[in-house]
Amino acid sequence: MNAPAKIAVLISGRGSNMQALAQNAGDDYEIVMVASDRPSAPGLAWAIEHGLPTFALSPKGIGKAAFEDVLDHTLRDAGTQWIALAGYMRLLSNAFVARWRGRIVNIHPSLLPKYKGLDTHARAIAARDLMAGCSVHVVTEELDAGEVLGQQEVAILPDDTPDTLAERVLAAEHQLYPAVLKEFVRR
Ligand code: GAR
Repeated sequence: MNAPAKIAVLISGRGSNMQALAQNAGDDYEIVMVASDRPSAPGLAWAIEHGLPTFALSPKGIGKAAFEDVLDHTLRDAGTQWIALAGYMRLLSNAFVARWRGRIVNIHPSLLPKYKGLDTHARAIAARDLMAGCSVHVVTEELDAGEVLGQQEVAILPDDTPDTLAERVLAAEHQLYPAVLKEFVRR
């Protein structure tokens, strides 16, 4: 049996997907770092409470290139093999993506290739789609366009608002992300 894969999770907000990843860590992967571009991200407090190593730095003032350099060094020092974006709302530069080519994954709240970018639930409802859902994909230079590793569908109900739909999709995300990550690091 191989050692667990070493995962760094990048968050910008509450980090519920990070929590789902942490709660499902084990023989397949372990979380070696929770990092954020927002020192006030609520998910960081959860990570600290749960004994996970954390790193927080705002790019404001130092610029994106310097921020990513520090991030890159911090992740490497922690032994990171794979990066999981979990509500990380900042675009990574092409240079950063190239340094970690094929080793960054992301969870996105739509059935890609539909609804890349923001406001996915409102757009799915406006289009009268019957199904929404979430996708885990490999991060490339192009937004939300890398290889899709796994998806989970969620039915859109007649009375759904973007918020009610988001809540059910988020629950699906928490199931999908750990399962897909386990398969991905094994392949
Ligand atoms: C999740 O719904 C995730 O899919 C979405 O942000 C939310 C973060 O929630 N990500 C994106 O929209 C990325 N483009 P969390 O902080 O509770 O995991």
